[in-house]
Amino acid sequence: MPWLEWHKRDDDLKATAKTPYRLLQPIQSLSHGDEDAPNMLIQGDNLEALKALLPYYAGQVKCIFIDPPYNTKSAFEHYDDNLEHAQWLSMMYPRMVLLRELLAEDGSIWITLDDNEAHYFKVMCDEIFGRRSFVATVCWESRYSRSSDTSLSLSHNFLFVYAKNAEKWKSVRNKLPRSQAQAAQYKNPDNDPRGPWRAIPFDAPEVRANLEYPITTPTGKIRKPPQGRHWARTEEQWLQLVDAGLAYFGKSGDGAPSFKQFLSEAPEIVPNTWWEHEDAGHTDEAQKEGKLLFGASTFATPKPERLMKRIIHIASQPGELVLDSFLGSGTTAAVAHKMGRRWIGIEMGEHARTYCQPRLAKVIDGEQGG
Ligand SMILES: C[S@@+](CC[C@H](N)C(=O)[O-])C[C@H]1O[C@@H](n2cnc3c(N)ncnc32)[C@H](O)[C@@H]1O
Repeated sequence: MPWLEWHKRDDDLKATAKTPYRLLQPIQSLSHGDEDAPNMLIQGDNLEALKALLPYYAGQVKCIFIDPPYNTKSAFEHYDDNLEHAQWLSMMYPRMVLLRELLAEDGSIWITLDDNEAHYFKVMCDEIFGRRSFVATVCWESRYSRSSDTSLSLSHNFLFVYAKNAEKWKSVRNKLPRSQAQAAQYKNPDNDPRGPWRAIPFDAPEVRANLEYPITTPTGKIRKPPQGRHWARTEEQWLQLVDAGLAYFGKSGDGAPSFKQFLSEAPEIVPNTWWEHEDAGHTDEAQKEGKLLFGASTFATPKPERLMKRIIHIASQPGELVLDSFLGSGTTAAVAHKMGRRWIGIEMGEHARTYCQPRLAKVIDGEQGG
């Protein structure tokens, strides 16, 4: 299998094993709420912290989200985002190995990045997780405005999704509720007492000789599948739809056969890989959420709570464990708590105390913003 080569790669492959096991030191004065709650905010370098968690949590984390420094060559107020390219890969490699070990058999890991490192990181992660564990790359519309001082204005961040076992994960991941815009596609032009509905075409691609039976419209017209297509279900199933009053032939009453799908019965939707800001929030919104919590002294690069809600909803159930080892201002832990998940957050900066701890204390006390 091809792999990515970088300076000191051989040392980095051994870094996880060489990291010493250290004990976590509880700080009672910073603890808040129920002492027996299973949640943990850890201040420290995540390489050591993840290794310290390994004996207790290996194979137990259902959803990992990380938003590591993107290597934008910026010096943010709370952390530096300016590593030499190979050093950034050296930093990420052993941490990803540990995160994989912490992941549950039916767990998933979500990583945000941008063009600075994303494509190198993807090749590195394919090696660590195996290409069969790669689920998809989500494009999140992180920005809706356009900047005029660049050749192509950047609108998105990448969200890489890996699962420990992609096949297993498919059967446990949650679908999404329909958004208001999606629900608005259901109308009720004939005042059907069963409520708003949508016409689902009854034909499907490709010719299938056994699914080409004639369908008679209410005005007596005979309909056959369009050229190169077949009916989506058997004749018996079509007649069941007719009996249930679900058959629809368009406004004219003798158009192409379709059937009614009612909003009240429409299943939730499978998440896709294009996440618009209307559904998943955007960077401006995250800044505003920060201002509400912290006043003028905001954190530079937070993620919006709506983005985290979406990821945590898809990837976990209430009571399951969510981990973020690049916690920043504490968004993942805050949203996980509001959603009834257990959580562990790791942040090395002093903002673990000045942002994360006060933010999470507010959430424990019932803060419901974001
Ligand atoms: C982009 S920010 C995360 C922002 C976060 N998603 C939020 O909503 O606020 C990345 C964070 O990773 C932290 N970080 C960087 N290297 C780390 C390390 N080795 N161990 C722990 N935290 C680290 C930085 O201090 C920074 O706060």
